[in-house]
Amino acid sequence: MTISFEPSGIKKLDDALGGGFPKGGVSLIVGPTGIGKTLLALQWLAEGVKNGQNVVYISTTVPVERIKEYYGSAPFLKDAASKIRWYNMDVEPKELIPFTENKQKRLFHNVMPDIIDEDMMPKIKIHRGVIDSITSFDRIIGDKALFRYVSSQFIKYFNKVGISAMLIEESNLGEVTSGGEMRNFAEATIVMDYIESKNMYMRAMKIMKRYGVNHPTYWMPFHITDEGLVL
Ligand SMILES: Nc1ncnc2c1ncn2[C@@H]1O[C@H](COP(=O)(O)OP(=O)(O)O)[C@@H](O)[C@H]1O
Ligand SMILES: [Mg+2]
Repeated sequence: MTISFEPSGIKKLDDALGGGFPKGGVSLIVGPTGIGKTLLALQWLAEGVKNGQNVVYISTTVPVERIKEYYGSAPFLKDAASKIRWYNMDVEPKELIPFTENKQKRLFHNVMPDIIDEDMMPKIKIHRGVIDSITSFDRIIGDKALFRYVSSQFIKYFNKVGISAMLIEESNLGEVTSGGEMRNFAEATIVMDYIESKNMYMRAMKIMKRYGVNHPTYWMPFHITDEGLVL
C-alpha cells in the first residue's frame, strides 16, 4: 500500500485527517498571530525529518535565525533543527508584479539556489515544504485576481514536483471564516483560533476541509507545551 499522507506526529490530529496531511498536495493553516501556526508547521517538518525526508522551511516574516533561537532547543525540534533547510524570503513588489513565468521561476531559485535550479526544478527530492506565511504575498500583490493567479501557479508547481506543501495564512482575530483565497485551492485547510469556554479563551483548531476524508468538523482544543502542540 502506498502512503498518501504526510503525518504531523500529533496522533489525534493525524487520525482526524485520516492519516495526515495530503502528500504531494497543498495544506493551508489559517489563524491569528500567536495561535501556534509556526509551531504546527515546525512539528510537521520535524516529523518529516524523523521519517528521513528532506524538508524546507521558508519564512517571509520573522528571520529563521530568530525562529531557531526560540524553538530550536525545544524537545520536539532539537534533533530535527539541524536537518531542516531554513530559508528567509524577502518578497519585494517588483519580484511579483507584473507576474511573469520568469519571475515565478526566479522567485524560488533566488531563495534556495542550492536546491532549486534556474528552471525551478528541484535538485534534490523535497518531500515537505512550509511557506510561513503567504499573507506576505497577498499584501504585496494587493489584488485578489492576481493573488488567486499566483496561488494557482504555486499549487500547480507543488503538484508537478511532488512537494507536500504547508502554507500559512495570517487571519485577524474572530475572522476565521472570511477571506483567504488560498483555501479554495488547498486539499486540506485547518483553521486555528481562540475559542471561549467557561469564560476562558483556549486555543483550538478545526479541520475545514480534507479531500477524501470524512473528517470531524468540531473545534479540537489544544495546548502548547515543550513537546509542541498537544491535542
Ligand atoms: N513551551 C511553550 N509553552 C507554552 N507556550 C509556548 C511555548 N513555546 C511557545 N509558546 C507560545 O506559542 C505561541 C507562538 O506560537 P507560534 O506558532 O509562533 O504562533 P503563530 O505562528 O500562529 O503566530 C506564543 O504565544 C508562545 O508564547
Ligand atoms: Mg508564525
